[in-house]
Amino acid sequence: MSDALIEKISKLKAERNAVILAHNYQPPEIQDIADFTGDSLGLSIKASKTDSVVIVFCGVLFMAETAAVLSPQKIVLLPDKNAGCPMADMITAEQLRQLKAQHPDALVVTYVNSSAEVKAESDYCCTSANAAEIVGSLPEDRKIIFVPDQHLGRFVSEKTRRQLILWPGYCASHIVITDDDIKNAKKKYPNAVVMAHPECSELVKALSDQVLSTSQMLRFAKDSPAKEFIVATEVGMIHPLSKQRPDALFVPASEKALCHNMKKITLEKLLWSLQDMQYRIEIPQDIAAKARKALDRMVEVLPSK
Ligand code: 13P
Ligand code: SF4
Repeated sequence: MSDALIEKISKLKAERNAVILAHNYQPPEIQDIADFTGDSLGLSIKASKTDSVVIVFCGVLFMAETAAVLSPQKIVLLPDKNAGCPMADMITAEQLRQLKAQHPDALVVTYVNSSAEVKAESDYCCTSANAAEIVGSLPEDRKIIFVPDQHLGRFVSEKTRRQLILWPGYCASHIVITDDDIKNAKKKYPNAVVMAHPECSELVKALSDQVLSTSQMLRFAKDSPAKEFIVATEVGMIHPLSKQRPDALFVPASEKALCHNMKKITLEKLLWSLQDMQYRIEIPQDIAAKARKALDRMVEVLPSK
């Protein structure tokens, strides 16, 4: 069944001149069929550089919106229109405007997990891979608003020693991982290296050896002599990590760390997406132009490491 589906997708992909981009949390079969997998930063860069006519984004809405903003001449498709990011929805453009009005002299750094409207109100975008570098590059005498993830914000604040004006957003799939989960996993695997995503709680990050974006986790594990890893992020990460290092053991810190939105994309929906050219993600020109400025600063100033 799935072989037939994969064949149909590949055929249609060539006919449509499409590229399939998939986030590291996507279901394994989606990651395996994608032309490119990566973290938010890697996918943004890929979306801005591809020659294909169509981009099928296997991820969540803000990622497809980012691709549409960076490639306005391309057709950007999201196979499930309901695959959103609850954290991105925790701040609206109006709420950000109000926050800016309270701090009129502040620069705004916005995590890429946000709507295009919110990005349009921002000076800079960042991802979990480059947030500290972006904040660290800003003038010392400027106040900085950082939205929407408070946990990434606190991590960046600690790393850069800059005080940030934070928004109380969070990712439910990450904060569900507790310090007890890490302690228990460490007891079971005393030699394991603990890798945590910056969206995790401060307690979890404090117990971890490395705080990394999803693609940084892949790069770190590739070069590490360790044979066991405790992975404190969405459980989908276990697939690319194990595929890359079949000789090593990757243990999820918590099986509860599941992003249901990421799992809404299936092979069937991917096929229908290419067949029907649905669901097309388009951003109004005025919003896209403003959001693009904030994204360009991120994509061009600080390339992926
Ligand atoms: P990465 O950019 O590290 O892949 O993170 C994206 C995300 O949505 C984490 O929840
Ligand atoms: Fe959003 Fe969290 Fe899912 Fe990432 S894991 S897409 S931040 S809900």
